[in-house]
Amino acid sequence: MQRIAVLASGAGSNLQAILAYLAAAGPATAGAVSLVASDRRQAGALAIGARAGIPSATITDANDARSILALLAEHQIGLVALAGYLKHIPEAVTARYRGHIVNVHPALLPAFGGPGMYGTRVHRAVLDAGVRITGVTVHFVDEAYDHGPIIAQWPVPVLAGDTPSVLAARVLRAEHRLYPCAVAAVASGRISLDAAGTVRGEAGAPVASPVFRLQTEESEL
Ligand code: GRF
Repeated sequence: MQRIAVLASGAGSNLQAILAYLAAAGPATAGAVSLVASDRRQAGALAIGARAGIPSATITDANDARSILALLAEHQIGLVALAGYLKHIPEAVTARYRGHIVNVHPALLPAFGGPGMYGTRVHRAVLDAGVRITGVTVHFVDEAYDHGPIIAQWPVPVLAGDTPSVLAARVLRAEHRLYPCAVAAVASGRISLDAAGTVRGEAGAPVASPVFRLQTEESEL
């Protein structure tokens, strides 16, 4: 059973979605959230973790790789899931957890990503660009922001009259369906990153395309 750490800076709705998904999988679940950590003492995600009886920690210096690695080792973490964690992960941490650290971004990377592209800024940029489709990206984390190999993407329509907050809410609903599936797939080894940086699916075959449907029930997002 993979021990998962969720790092979050905000409300924690993705953490909540991951907890619900893993709980619904029952005893066959691929992993368990064993640590919730945040750079913000007041992060809603810490309260969600506490309510679920999950050990939590505050990251006082987001640049201190040694202390972050010590925290993850202390909790015997095998997979790190960033869920709205706004700080840059030190390179020593992404190197140590290469292929075992993932992130969710509320746009179709590589578009609308990178330093400073978070929250409603992403959706404002999408609307300003006039694109008709945005979406969600789940990717392996490397040393650059929003840059690692893509695991899965999910398209979300941009509708007439959308404001950044309306669009953000629609995209967030898609995140809540895609991210938990992707986290479970990586936790179980059904999706992995090989030495050459290729995302591989079941039985080691390369994932044909970053846009593929994980086992999510049909639903209107
Ligand atoms: C999500 O929109 C995610 O895509 C981005 O940060 C937000 C986190 O929201 N990385 P929450 O804290 O999970 O509600």
